[in-house]
Amino acid sequence: MNRNFFIMVVGLGVIVLALAIIIFMTTIQIPGCKPGELPPEFIHQHEVTDFDLDVFEARREKILQELDADIIIISAAARHDFRYLTGFTERQGVAVIIPGDEDPYRLFVTPWEIYTVMWTGEVYGTQGAKEKFGADMAYALSEFDRMLPGMLEGKTNIYIHHSDNMVREAVNRIRSLRGLSLNIGELAPVLHEHRLIKDEWEIAQLRQAIDVTVKAHNYVLRTVRPGLAEYEVQADIEYIFRRNGMGPGFPSIVGSGPNSCLLHHTRNDRVMEDGDLLLMDIGAESLGGYVADVTRTIPVNGRFSPEQREIYELVLRANEEAMKELKPGNNLLDCHHRAVGVLTDALHEMGLLPDTTSWWQKRFYIQYRINHFIGLQVHDAGDYGFNDAARNDHILSPDVRGRELKPGMIMTNEPGLYFMVGLLDGIHEMFGHLAPEEELNAFVEQVRPVYERYEGIGVRLEDCVLITEDGNINLSAGAPRTIEEIEAAMIR
Ligand code: GLY
Ligand code: MN
Ligand code: MN
Repeated sequence: MNRNFFIMVVGLGVIVLALAIIIFMTTIQIPGCKPGELPPEFIHQHEVTDFDLDVFEARREKILQELDADIIIISAAARHDFRYLTGFTERQGVAVIIPGDEDPYRLFVTPWEIYTVMWTGEVYGTQGAKEKFGADMAYALSEFDRMLPGMLEGKTNIYIHHSDNMVREAVNRIRSLRGLSLNIGELAPVLHEHRLIKDEWEIAQLRQAIDVTVKAHNYVLRTVRPGLAEYEVQADIEYIFRRNGMGPGFPSIVGSGPNSCLLHHTRNDRVMEDGDLLLMDIGAESLGGYVADVTRTIPVNGRFSPEQREIYELVLRANEEAMKELKPGNNLLDCHHRAVGVLTDALHEMGLLPDTTSWWQKRFYIQYRINHFIGLQVHDAGDYGFNDAARNDHILSPDVRGRELKPGMIMTNEPGLYFMVGLLDGIHEMFGHLAPEEELNAFVEQVRPVYERYEGIGVRLEDCVLITEDGNINLSAGAPRTIEEIEAAMIR
């Protein structure tokens, strides 16, 4: 009897203890919070800016001043440029601007109809187009074809967007039907030139997107641990985006261990191991449509190994040196060439890049240009001042400097080094057309013993930088960047 009673008490004690541990474990990740709750620093730090009619009106005015346009027509097919000019966020719509007309700004939109709204959700309709988006006149989209001949009457200079097939076809149809003599100009280059210099509203939008992205980086420093899958980290990141009313502006890159070397790894399905690095290249999109782009690389177990530390310090130094070149008067690629110099000099000293005069040996380690504009697109539109598509022409050519930097430009600074597993064995495929086989073999033989020490390590450090009158501001500095900061933030 006593023995049974004793066993029962001990059993109950064990169950109560186990329950207490389980409850404790579910709340331990974020101290002081119940599950589903977040400390205030992770949510709702600021009001999400609503769009401001004046901003869009001013943009249309500026564009009109630069074009000798009798009429401008742009549809939602030219997504980002349409949004830049109108602020209108629905998937369909056409804007027509006719300077001097009694209705100079017209919007053609999905009409508010009970069944459309019931099935596909709320739309602004013609009333919303006038009240919320400042149209002088608004019509149902279906009216566009019928009204186009009248709108084109007496016009000579018309501007449309190269990606706007629907508008182009409609205009060409009316032109040949009526025998109109029209000069058709291209709208995109003028718009893109404006998009390069961010106005105050755009800077505020990008700051919000970047702040939320920085919060996500800070949050995962508290939750990452061996045994979690990359997609669980992705879930934590995008959870913070959503808790702030935002979503990812591009597919989140969450690459651990060898995946940290895959520049655009998005499968995110590997289970992380003790000793891995984890590279997270992520960006929230603000409600106004502006996209952040911030990368941090952290050790999954909270401590960098000596080899990881060495590569991380090097990439950090490249980022910091590049930062010094981001100022008005300098050119876009000056920061890139400086970072490349830091990386290639160090790789040479480490025995990884025997011949610094060899183009292909440098190209083996330098995969991309370290900066791009951000804005409505993560790789934002605009003339970069060199042929962006011909990567081999500028990536290692310091004489290609790109366009001059101006206050109001916002761009990334994202050097990286990637020791992809098996990359040395791919060298014939990569550079067989540039160097004789014996030269490639000699390189592999010389470099392999050092390369193997770092194999599987990939590090990228990406910040978003605003060019100011006298230098720059690192808008993503709030996400820990140094080894000390990262390791301190990961102590649990
Ligand atoms: N997230 C893509 C890039 O860094 O360019
Ligand atoms: Mn980037
Ligand atoms: Mn990125």
